[in-house]
Amino acid sequence: MKDAALLKNCMKKDAAVKLIRRGGLETTIDHILFANGGQNAIAATLASLCKPGERIGVDQHTYPGLKTVAAMLSVQIVPIKSENDEMSPASFEYACKNENIKGIYLIPDYHNPTASFMSVENRKMIAAIAKKYNQFIIEDASYHLLNKKPLPAVASFAPEQVIYIASLYKSFAPGLRLAYVAVPSQFKEPISKALYNLNVSVSPLLAELAARTVVSNQFEVLIEGHREQTIRRNQLVNRYLADFTCLGAETGIFRWLLLPGKITGAEFETLAKQQGVQVYAAERFVVGNSCPERAVRVSVCAPETLEELERGLIILKRLLNDLT
Ligand SMILES: Cc1ncc(COP(=O)(O)O)c(C=O)c1O
Repeated sequence: MKDAALLKNCMKKDAAVKLIRRGGLETTIDHILFANGGQNAIAATLASLCKPGERIGVDQHTYPGLKTVAAMLSVQIVPIKSENDEMSPASFEYACKNENIKGIYLIPDYHNPTASFMSVENRKMIAAIAKKYNQFIIEDASYHLLNKKPLPAVASFAPEQVIYIASLYKSFAPGLRLAYVAVPSQFKEPISKALYNLNVSVSPLLAELAARTVVSNQFEVLIEGHREQTIRRNQLVNRYLADFTCLGAETGIFRWLLLPGKITGAEFETLAKQQGVQVYAAERFVVGNSCPERAVRVSVCAPETLEELERGLIILKRLLNDLT
């Protein structure tokens, strides 16, 4: 009985290794932990690696769930400047020397909210600085599988520094609240304990379902189906917003719309809401006293149908035209 349970656990970890490899990182089963989604993994990682009052570096605009969990744990977040839409290695190094940070949080692929990608060169430089100053990196790979050919993970350049979190929510199915986490040996015990304290365990049923989907390669079909849908939706965005700067790849589930004229993101969000369209302003994502970009995030896959997306885009286009 015990052997059968062990075997099952190995199968689940093998599936995690396979999926993570598909996303651009080679790892082994002894590094794998399971969490109830990306947010849960971020919370457990921060809770185990930072004490209240300690500091981590993040992009000037970042995923709001990171901000709320840091606030809950009294972990301070320090904005690190971007250059060419990606975290600047020089600013990271400055923060290592002067800001007393313990680590950083990154979203290298399909950044939320700016939809940017970190270049391979930058991944290498950020990894080298993390090694030099013994910083941890939380690499949030929520969207890595949207890539047909994923870029190498930051973790592949600094495997001893990086906690790599692969949520299944966005690329598989929202019902699968599960994340595979590849954890360096030095952090495995504290993060494993934090996950136990928060969850005891993940749902064995969901973990089994996810593992079977991965091992059977069924996940490739799911991902491809989502990708096709997403591309179709982004083509609509490109068509309607062609006269404006709407950053992001056609395989991404959101776009970063830079606003014309002088309107702020928050003002545009209110304007769009009055017309029945929900976009999220840069102000929701901004960190510390960084200046929010005059931009909004457009969630391409949130509308239920292509027609609903099209209706929203027509309204956005009209509002944008009125601003120019
Ligand atoms: C960058 C990022 N990380 C983590 C999450 C949360 O992931 P999960 O739904 O797996 O908890 C999200 C959800 O929107 C996200 O955008």
